[in-house]
Amino acid sequence: MAQALERQRKSSVRPLTAAAIPADEFAVMRRENLARWPTGAEVDIDEAAAFHKALPKHKQLGWVMREAAREGRCLTQPRGGFGTLELQMELMRALDKDGLADIVPTTTDSYTRNEQWTRAATGIEESKKAGRSMLNGYPMVNYGPRQTRKLIEAISKPTIVLSGTSMPRLTSEVGFAAGYSGYLGSGIAYTTSYTKDVSIADGIRNYQYLDRLAALYLEKGVELHRRQPGFLTGTNIPPSIAIVTCVLDALLAAGQGVRNYGLELGQTLHLIQDAAAIKVCGELAQEYLKAQGFDDMFTPVTSLHWMGAWPHDDAQSAALVAYGGTLAAIGGAVSVTTKSTHEAFGLPTPQVNAEGLRTTRMAIYLARHIRLDDMPEYEFEADLIRREARAIVDKVLDMGDGDAAVGAVNAFEAGALDIPWSPSRFCKSRVLPARDADGYLRIFDPGLMPFPKDVMAVHQERIRKRAEGEGVPYDHELAVKSVYEISEPLDKLLPFPWARA
Ligand code: 5AD
Repeated sequence: MAQALERQRKSSVRPLTAAAIPADEFAVMRRENLARWPTGAEVDIDEAAAFHKALPKHKQLGWVMREAAREGRCLTQPRGGFGTLELQMELMRALDKDGLADIVPTTTDSYTRNEQWTRAATGIEESKKAGRSMLNGYPMVNYGPRQTRKLIEAISKPTIVLSGTSMPRLTSEVGFAAGYSGYLGSGIAYTTSYTKDVSIADGIRNYQYLDRLAALYLEKGVELHRRQPGFLTGTNIPPSIAIVTCVLDALLAAGQGVRNYGLELGQTLHLIQDAAAIKVCGELAQEYLKAQGFDDMFTPVTSLHWMGAWPHDDAQSAALVAYGGTLAAIGGAVSVTTKSTHEAFGLPTPQVNAEGLRTTRMAIYLARHIRLDDMPEYEFEADLIRREARAIVDKVLDMGDGDAAVGAVNAFEAGALDIPWSPSRFCKSRVLPARDADGYLRIFDPGLMPFPKDVMAVHQERIRKRAEGEGVPYDHELAVKSVYEISEPLDKLLPFPWARA
């Protein structure tokens, strides 16, 4: 025990590196981690690996993602989590059967995301008393892997854990042990987008644990699907910035031994920009992974329904839901993460959530044969995104002497890597996006990010065109207005002169 503690002490001061956590160190880390809550004792990785292997292939997300990519299909996946096992089961059944979801999620509640399991326990009791969910997700750690496995057994689809957190170490252990074959989250993206005080280095370390765990399952013959949340703060993220984080987080996951790693992009709502982004995201991830010797990493891209502010009107929201399916299908995304007409009001009921899935599925069906390849504007946009992303990734890797973990920490500190509207105090958040005259998301102010000059000239010229068209000054107000634009009432969005009051 003393020896183990000593090793753990050493491991916690192991300098930050993108290299894999050594097996013996990882064993000590796992013991410590699992001891943090009673249900940790239920985790038996060999039993869990056997359970995963016994699942039919169509319930294994790693396999299902590969099949979808091979067949050029776009899978649908909602979000969803309630505060008790019973409510969660009812929800997952509805998403599976009524929504025809291809991938069924479990969103964890905020207490669980913040590792406040005592509070989550109170939330379960209150939910039971009230007969409805008093938590904003499923308290996975409190229920533990044995109880939670009932959810996996209740449906006939693959499942994914959605836990918007920088601290995934126990939810990942419990989730994988229960039988979830997917887990969304990453060290760079979630730490800079969902937390204020967690350092980039700590966020990276926490996800290295999770990725190392996924790799341990792989060593045991189970290919789990890991996924990166490139939507970041969800607020007008220009594709190149999302892609930079996708590439860096993918390098970090690969370093731990992950081989099935999805990349997510929030929709800009511009068809051409979104399609170009999906294409370049996959390409660049492969380019940088191969350059570091990872030539067998599978990196499917997922497109996300609008992640910014939603309108309150059902009809307007329905358009965003359907269009979101169209964008994902035409862009060639392997899956799409859906929202519903309740988005502006809070969590959707299972029925409305299922409806969002079906609307999206129909839109995918209608658009399934359409591609934009060879269209000059698409080629132009793809080239622009490629040049932007490469400049930043190269700089970050340079700042870490080739190590993505060290580079990311240094680059955030210097502002060379930056995220718009970030709550993190480890991120400068000086970069400012704005929508241009043609509806593309552009970079109004690069902050300290080293985008090439000719690229910035394109962005600023396009935003200037908008300012001139609207007769407003070229200033940061354009960036602020762009944040609210999509949630505005319809009569403000298409103000024809003859219809103005
Ligand atoms: N159920 C359904 N959707 C959820 N979201 C967060 N928690 C839940 C939940 N428990 C959704 C929000 C938003 C996105 C970031 O996640 O509605 O669309």
